[in-house]
Amino acid sequence: MTTPASTDLLAHPGLIPPPVAPGATEGLAWLRGNVARFASGEPHRRRRAQAADLLHGMDTEQLRERAAELARGIVAAGPVDIMECIARDVPVRVLAEAMGLASVEIAAVRAVAAGYLSGEATAQSDAGVERLVAACGGVHDEPTAARIGLLVQACEATAALIGNTLAARSSVAAQLHDDPPVKATVRVAVAEVGTMHLRPGDQVRIELSGDTAFGAGPHACPGRDQAIAIAAGVCDALRDARLQTEPVEYAPLPNLRIPTRLEATP
Ligand code: HEM
Repeated sequence: MTTPASTDLLAHPGLIPPPVAPGATEGLAWLRGNVARFASGEPHRRRRAQAADLLHGMDTEQLRERAAELARGIVAAGPVDIMECIARDVPVRVLAEAMGLASVEIAAVRAVAAGYLSGEATAQSDAGVERLVAACGGVHDEPTAARIGLLVQACEATAALIGNTLAARSSVAAQLHDDPPVKATVRVAVAEVGTMHLRPGDQVRIELSGDTAFGAGPHACPGRDQAIAIAAGVCDALRDARLQTEPVEYAPLPNLRIPTRLEATP
């Protein structure tokens, strides 16, 4: 049997992201139930268009410059763990500002991001969603979920891209090609998928690599250009900083390669 390419699996109509039970009115379960990421069919198209509209309004050159400015300011203040203070916080701050949400609490985004893919809610992630809804105007609707969703989607993946690029002393483009941060994604079969011997309900892990670094098919990352601009801005700003952590250690996550620490001095 020839294994279908990841791009074919990601475009297969019989394979969908693991669905979320509908009906939650608040917390992490509400967010997951109202974003594009876990939706299919018409709700997915509608929510994805909302996310794409927000992203299309952003000037990537401005994102890059603002990311560089923020990163330079943080590293100039003294020795710093890039993963703790820059890699997550700067992308989230830059995107929040670009959406007119400058007062968003980054700690809330980080708490939500920690359980976003698994759906394992904690008191912190549920409270984080509610603080973010309040920062967006206090209404639990799809446009609010789209804005929060962008911040949360950006948080860990962009941090991983930044951390890996700096640790490898590479460029963002080369890093994406050689060792992209998101290693795999998951789909559930809603029909028989004969080429993979899958029956309805079966889960499949789909490996990602250089040409699928941002996924493929209907759920392909709509934030690709913005992520590259922000990561490049941060990495350029830190090019002359001295990195001190060797060897680099990575978080024990199955689908994301992300350094745990990366210390830098100006
Ligand atoms: C500005 C930063 C980012 C934003 C705003 C963003 C946004 C999003 C959104 C909204 C989705 C869900 C799309 C949908 O379901 O229709 C998504 C999916 C995805 N993103 Fe991003 N993202 C960002 C950074 C990244 C980075 C740095 C990577 C890795 C290089 C990445 C890889 C992916 C992948 C692989 C998917 C598809 C997941 C799947 O099909 O299961 N993203 N992104």
